[in-house]
This record gives sequence, structure tokens and C-alpha cells, in this order.
Amino acid sequence: MPEQKDPRQEVDAARTAFEREFARFASLTSGTGAELSSLTEAEAELRALADLRVRHTGKKSAIAGAKKLIGRVAPEDRASFGQLVQKTEMQLTESMDAAELALKTFIETARIARESIDVTIPGRRPRSGHLHPITLMRQRIEDIFVSLGYAVEDDREIETDFYNFDALNIPEGHPARDPQDTFYTTQGFALRSQTSTVQIHAMQRRGAPVRMIAPGRVFRRDTPDPTHNPMFYQVEGLCVDRGITMAHLKGTLAEFVHRLFGPETRTRFRPSYFPFTEPSAEVDYSCFNCGGDGCRICKSSGWIELGGSGMVHPNVLRAANVDPEVFTGFAFGLGIDRTCARIYELDDIRLLFENDVRFLEQFK
Ligand code: FA5
Repeated sequence: MPEQKDPRQEVDAARTAFEREFARFASLTSGTGAELSSLTEAEAELRALADLRVRHTGKKSAIAGAKKLIGRVAPEDRASFGQLVQKTEMQLTESMDAAELALKTFIETARIARESIDVTIPGRRPRSGHLHPITLMRQRIEDIFVSLGYAVEDDREIETDFYNFDALNIPEGHPARDPQDTFYTTQGFALRSQTSTVQIHAMQRRGAPVRMIAPGRVFRRDTPDPTHNPMFYQVEGLCVDRGITMAHLKGTLAEFVHRLFGPETRTRFRPSYFPFTEPSAEVDYSCFNCGGDGCRICKSSGWIELGGSGMVHPNVLRAANVDPEVFTGFAFGLGIDRTCARIYELDDIRLLFENDVRFLEQFK
């Protein structure tokens, strides 16, 4: 017959095994878990403690085994043995409860600290964008012409030879068609080198009479310098109706500069040449800074160039199916970048495309 173990020794062995494993939690039973270094560590310890509870007080634990022995103990020892088992189990449970409470307290405090919001910390202001100076300039120009009864047109930046050159009365062999001046994409297509292309589209779309402006991007094989960029903005203007004369052109641009730079601003028209206008003129306005006396902004000349203009060539009207015997018109093309640079006193239009936020922020 196998030798019967003393049941009291079974209980002692159960306690010793528990104490060995519980040692690492023992320090928690008296405190709040301050010795724990992180929330993650505390959460791992809580899981380990739950495992330990199952192993030492669960159904298959040594203490549960000892309970089953109570009935087998001699009747005179049964009561005291029963009390020993019960007391031992209670002590184990109390130790684990205390450690669990400390761990839970620590976890809750750490979670609150992690999730709390300090409402007294000053807020971080989100960086807000604003319009680019060229857009601001374009909007000012659009507002003036819209109030004069002009529609605003938008059109394509890649054009066929017909719209880029033929319809604008620019014949084969003209220097403007030279690949040294124009960016060609594929045979027969090029990036528009002036917004004048929109004159044709607008007349084809709307017929005559027509009054429109077309602000937009244009491309030329110009070497960048303080007054040139290979990509820049122009605004085209076109007015076609019965009886339109050069006087209407001069009056319109005079009104435009009055509204943009002030009523005392004067205009000056210099004879020029463009294949799509006849006669043609360069338009200047008196310097808004010195009034014409000469200063740094107008480079001591008293005048600033606005752009090109003229009476729409009859060939251009014909190319857009408008009868030049019935209708006449004027057109102009102004450089937005250079006008913007003058107004904001920039020495170099290249600044407008460098995208340096420190520069652009000044136009808020
Ligand atoms: C023209 O482009 C004509 N299409 C204007 C025109 C329209 C005349 C309708 C008659 C009737 P021009 O090449 O001069 O003209 O350019 C007009 C303006 O564009 C110039 O006054 C200048 O302000 C601007 N410009 C020209 N080249 C550049 C460049 N590389 N960088 C920045 N601005 C430029």
C-alpha cells in the first residue's frame, strides 16, 4: 500500500509553492504600485496575477486538492484540519486581492494621466494659407473689367498651330514660330506663348459682338532674369462690336489704370507692331509712385509698361468667322507678373515662383 502523505504537509507544500511564485507581487500588497515603471508593465503583471490565482486557488490547485482530503482525515482532527485549509486559502486569496488592487489602482491612474487634456495649455494656431500675390493681382484686374461689362474667359494652355499662329495672322516663317521662342509639345501642338489665342476661341464661341478678358498662363523660351520668366501670366482683353475705334481702346485702358493705380494716372500709347492688330501700340502708364517725376520703381523714366494693344486685324476677325466689314474691335495683352512686381515693389519677378513661404507670407 502506498504511504499516505500527512494532509497538513500537503497544505504547507501548497503555501510554500504559492509564496515562491507570489514573491514578485509581494511588495504590491502594501502599496499603490509606485514601483511599477509603466502602464504596459502593470497590465502584464495583472494578467500574470490572474494566471497565478487560477493555478493556486482554482479547481485543480493544491489547496483544492487539500480540501478534498478533509473527509479522509480522522474525525477528531477533521475540524482543525478543515480550519487550516480554509485559513490558508483565505490568506492566499487576501494576498492576491491586495496585489490586484494595487495593480488596478496604478493602471487607472496611469490611464487617466495618459488621456487627460490640460485645458490651460495655450492652443496651437493652425497655419492658414492665403492667396498668391499673382492671384490677388488677377482678381483685382478681373473685378475692374467685370464692372466694365467684360466676361471672364478661361482656355487651354496647349494649342494647335492654327490658334497659336495662323488665326493670329502669324505666317509660316515668322520668328514667333521658331522653336527657339516657343515650347512645342508634339508636331502641330505648342504651349501658348500669349493669351491672344483666346481671342479666336472667344469669337468662335460667342460670335460678335463680344467683350471679354482672358487671364492665364503663357510660356516662352525666355531665359529667367529679373523681368522675364519662361512661364508667366497675361490677361488678354477683346472688345468687338459695330463702330469700335482706337478711342474706345484708349478710353478703356485709361479707365483701367485709374481704377487700379488712382485717378491721376495717365496713359501713353507708343506705335508698335503685332501681326494680329493694325494699328498696334505699346501702352504705358505714369508711375503710381512718383506720378511721372522719375523714381526707383519706374527706373527714373516716369512711365511703366503695361502691355501691347491695337485694333484687331481684319484677318483675325475673318479666321474667327466675324465679318470685318460689319465689326471692328480692339485687343490688348497685359503682363500680370510685372504689374504685380511693380505694385508690390519687387525687384525680381522670379521671387513670385520660388515658393518661399517667408516671402509669400508677406501678402496675407
Ligand atoms: C503680347 O504678348 C501680345 N499678345 C499683347 C497683345 C495682345 C498685343 C493683344 C496686341 C493685342 P508682349 O510680348 O509685349 O505682347 O507681352 C505682353 C506683356 O507680357 C509684356 O508687356 C510683359 O508685361 C509680359 N511679358 C512678356 N514676356 C514676359 C516674360 N518672359 N516674363 C514675364 N512677363 C513677360
